[in-house]
Formats: sequence, structure tokens, C-alpha cells
Amino acid sequence: MNSRFLRRPAAAVALLLAVSGRAQGLGQASYVTTAAAGAGFVLVQGRDAASIWIDAADWPGAIRAAGDLRADVARVTTVTPALGHDAAHPGTRAVIIGTVGRSALVDRLAREGKIDVSGIRGRWESFLVQTLRDPLPGVSTALVIAGSDKRGTIFGIYDLSEQIGVSPWYWWDDVTPERKSALYVKPGRYQQGEPSVKYRGIFLNDEKPNLDFWVRAKFGEHPTPGGGQGTVANFNHLFYARIFELLLRLKANYLWPAMWNNAFAEDDPDNARLADEYGIVMGTSHQEPMLRAQKEWDRSLQRKYGNWNYNNTNQQPNQISMNKKISALMIIGSLVCSAGIAKAADAAELWTKNCVSCHAADGSGSTTMGKKYGVKDYRDAKVQADITDEKATQAITDGITEDGKTKMKPFKEKLTPEEIKSLVAYVRTLKK
Ligand code: HEC
Repeated sequence: MNSRFLRRPAAAVALLLAVSGRAQGLGQASYVTTAAAGAGFVLVQGRDAASIWIDAADWPGAIRAAGDLRADVARVTTVTPALGHDAAHPGTRAVIIGTVGRSALVDRLAREGKIDVSGIRGRWESFLVQTLRDPLPGVSTALVIAGSDKRGTIFGIYDLSEQIGVSPWYWWDDVTPERKSALYVKPGRYQQGEPSVKYRGIFLNDEKPNLDFWVRAKFGEHPTPGGGQGTVANFNHLFYARIFELLLRLKANYLWPAMWNNAFAEDDPDNARLADEYGIVMGTSHQEPMLRAQKEWDRSLQRKYGNWNYNNTNQQPNQISMNKKISALMIIGSLVCSAGIAKAADAAELWTKNCVSCHAADGSGSTTMGKKYGVKDYRDAKVQADITDEKATQAITDGITEDGKTKMKPFKEKLTPEEIKSLVAYVRTLKK
């Protein structure tokens, strides 16, 4: 495909590795200290660490991040806290972590009025961190980290990790945390609300050669899936888990994966599964359509059907079946994301994206394809009068076939009924 040659294969990981390790998030209140005076919660003192509790029914991604917090405390103090799930015994000094609605203890504390979750409940990626005295039977002090949703809880956990001195870049940049013998949390309540940008992430661009060779050296290579030639770098779940963790520690949530010679979903089935478990929303870059990697096509279908071309109707059954495969396999996060994006697109954008190749931007049908298919001029009032809303809706939904040839493909797989309705209204605005 031509667009492949437009990109320069030089600067692979620059974006990813450019920012270096700073252990305190910008503009964040610092609530962890190494001075005992007036401490609201003792996280570590000498060889004694508070225990960490999270409900076994919480998001697996939040439970995984709680394990990272445990490792982070050990990285800083060399003391490894206990990590438990028993709601009857969280520990006399406990970090109580949980997602509102999925955590026996967080929900109980909220019900009993010991924490106020009204500022985060139902919000996107929000959390609060609060110290409590005698909050529950058998618990003398607690540090509650309550999240509004999966990433809210994860961000709350990693906020504490960063505050105790673990850089989000500890692995990628070999940032060794400063050793501390005690960690205290100041008394109080710290709340982080919704981010002003909903999806925040990075893009592994031009990953061949630099990142590709680095991955081959660190994670190995494997035969090209689908019977293609040669080997591909192991952009596998071990590699992506490191990226997902970095993104979450940076409070990001979105990733476009390597695609130069790789296929995120096909190369390692655990990639997509783990993206969802970690809480990373996946998208695709460049010419890659609807979350499929072009390499999947090139490896197994190109020989038979030629270069990927979305306008080639002979290819479409295969393209659709590939897309169906990924819908089943691809992560919920990405579907949520694409639904979110589709909703945001207004009728003019949908028209530009889906319709102008034949109907032209102004509805005149004066494009090469429009002429080939005999598209009418929708600027013409008489033409408009011939089209009822009902017929237009049906044409967009089910497509138009004449003499067994598809003239306009159905859009029901691609557009929602609301979007089709908005396009029918848009077609009306084309009348001169
Ligand atoms: C591959 C070419 C092609 C594309 C892409 C295409 N159409 Fe069409 N469309 C046609 C042809 C051919 C007809 C039948 C001739 C005509 O009515 O202009 C048609 C007819 C229509 C009609 C009239 C139906 C009727 O009742 O007569 C509407 C409305 C319409 N298209 C809307 C759209 C919208 C909205 C999109 C984008 C979501 C779209 N088309 C994409 C080729 C296309």
C-alpha cells in the first residue's frame, strides 16, 4: 500500500522515550511524607508495613495494580506489605482499595458516611484518597483509595505509587527509586475529578527499524503468522504489558499499536485480552481500518485478492468477515471508544467519510465513481422530491443492488440507526 512508503522508518520510539522520570506528577498535591509528625496514616515504619486490601470481586485490572503498589512499596522501603481480599480482616492498619459499587468495604464506608463518594460516583476515571481513624471493627487507621470506575481505581493506586517516589518510567528508563525507611500519609482527603481530555495516549509510530530491533533483542521474534515470509518481532503481551503499565502510571488510557510489520490482535491473542484487563483502550493508526491490522490482510489474503482497498467490492466480504472476527476478539474498551467516536461524529462528518466518493461533497454526484454508478444530482429539487425519507433510510441501511450488482453498499454494519437518520436529514440540506 502506498501510504506505507510515505512514512519515514527512522524515529521509532522517540515519542515514547522522550519524557524522562520525574517522581511527582505535575500540579499534584503532595500527601506523602517521610516525617512522622502529625501523620494521618503510617504506610511504612521500620520493617512494619500497613497491609493492602482489595475486594476479590473488584476489576482484575485494579487487583493487578494493587499488586504493583505492593511491589512499589518494596522498591522504596525493601518491606513488602501483605495483600489480602478478606473483608472481615483487612488488617489493623490497612490501605483499603476499591471501585465504588464493586468493593464490599468501600461501599460499606460510603454507606456508613465515613467517606463521601458523591464527588466521584458515576464519573469518568475519578478517585479519592482519604485517611480514616477507627473506620471499621478491628481497623484502627485506614488509607482509602476509592475509584469511580476501573481506571479511576487504578489511577488512585498509581497516584500513591508516584507519591512514595516510584517514577512511572521506573522500568523503561531504569529510574531507581530513592530508598526511604518510612512513609507517612498526611491526614486529609484528596480528590481527583474527571480528566478534561477523555482519551489520552500514545502512538508507536515508525517502529521499524528502532523499536522493532529492540523488541527482537529483548522479546525475541517468531515466524510470520498466516504463513507469511520470514519472522516478525515479538510485539507480544510481555512487551505490551509494559506499555499498558506505563500508560496507566502516567494516567493515560489509549494506544495505537505497532503496525509496520505487526498485527496487534493476531501476533499474540493475549495482547487484546490484556489491553482490556489492564484498562487500555485500543485504536488503530494510518490506513488500518476498523481496528484490523493491514498485515493480517497482507499475510493471508493479499495473494488472492490484491492490495487492501476498501472501495473494492470484491474484497468486501473478506474485509467484513475480518472485522467480524475482531469484534468478537477485540477488547471491550476499543468498542466503547469507537462507539464514543461514532457518536461524536455529526452528519457532515459521516457524509464526508462514507458518501462523498460517489455522491460528491455537494451531493452533485460528479465524482468518477458517482458518474460510473449513475448517481443522481441531489442538489436538484425534482430529484429530492422523488426520494422519500423512507426510501432514503432503506437505501442507506440495506444498500442498492441493480441487476445483481451492488451500486451502493449497505451501511447497517457501519452506522447506527441514529446516524442513518441524521444522514437522511443531511441529504435534504444538499438541495439548492
Ligand atoms: C459506491 C457509491 C456510493 C456510495 C459510497 C454511497 N452511495 Fe448513495 N447511492 C449510490 C447510487 C448508485 C444510488 C442510486 C442512484 C441515486 O439515487 O443517485 C444511491 C442512492 C442514494 C440515495 C437515494 C435513495 C433513493 O431513495 O433514491 C441516498 C439518500 C443515498 N444514496 C445516500 C447515501 C449516503 C448517506 C451515503 C453514505 C453513508 C451513500 N449514499 C454512499 C451510490 C453510492
